[in-house]
Amino acid sequence: MDIMELLKTRRTYRRFEQKAISDKILEDMLTAARYASSAANKQPISYVVVRTPEKVKEVFDLTKWAGYFPNDAGRPKAGEEPVLFIGIVENLDISKNYADTDAGLAISNLTLAAWSHGVGSCMIGACNKPKLSEMFGLTENQQLHTVVAFGYPSHKSYIEDVKDGAIKYYLDENQDYVVPKRKLDDIVKYL
Ligand SMILES: Cc1cc2nc3c(=O)[nH]c(=O)nc-3n(C[C@H](O)[C@H](O)[C@H](O)COP(=O)(O)O)c2cc1C
Repeated sequence: MDIMELLKTRRTYRRFEQKAISDKILEDMLTAARYASSAANKQPISYVVVRTPEKVKEVFDLTKWAGYFPNDAGRPKAGEEPVLFIGIVENLDISKNYADTDAGLAISNLTLAAWSHGVGSCMIGACNKPKLSEMFGLTENQQLHTVVAFGYPSHKSYIEDVKDGAIKYYLDENQDYVVPKRKLDDIVKYL
């Protein structure tokens, strides 16, 4: 896929086919994260891969989806759940400086590499971090940044221009996600 098409279509996906992600694709995703830039090249980010169905369910139960929708309507229903989670960990004993930025860059590489193989993702900040940190066996110097859910999407998601400042994503008549993005004129200033 052309890079601009890859960036445009690598959206957040919240409903998935129940199809496993191969070891080869997973290795590509983690390698892409490994290639990410890092402040002072300290590389404080590490990863917890969760892929056995029992553990995936355990993590899933500790996550929240599509906060703009009432009544948990954006939560994947039975048969739509992600098949893989990756916990993004900041190792603060390695570096506290820009660890959050490093995590974002790594997640970007991780999710783009996944999408290049047709694997969709959803970053999840709204999760029970104390319980997940315990489950992942994190130490006090290891801070859970997010968990990222992965799977082959069973819906579409596409961008439209923000109208009248309305930035909330919504579902269209086909139950596909529509994601308003601010127009370039509104976010860029040329000097
Ligand atoms: C740091 C971060 C945390 C997020 N946390 C959640 C979350 O807890 N649950 C969820 O359903 N989506 C979450 N998202 C996904 C955003 O809602 C999504 O990126 C946004 O609506 C824009 O959609 P797009 O990714 O398709 O551009 C998160 C995204 C980011 C970057």
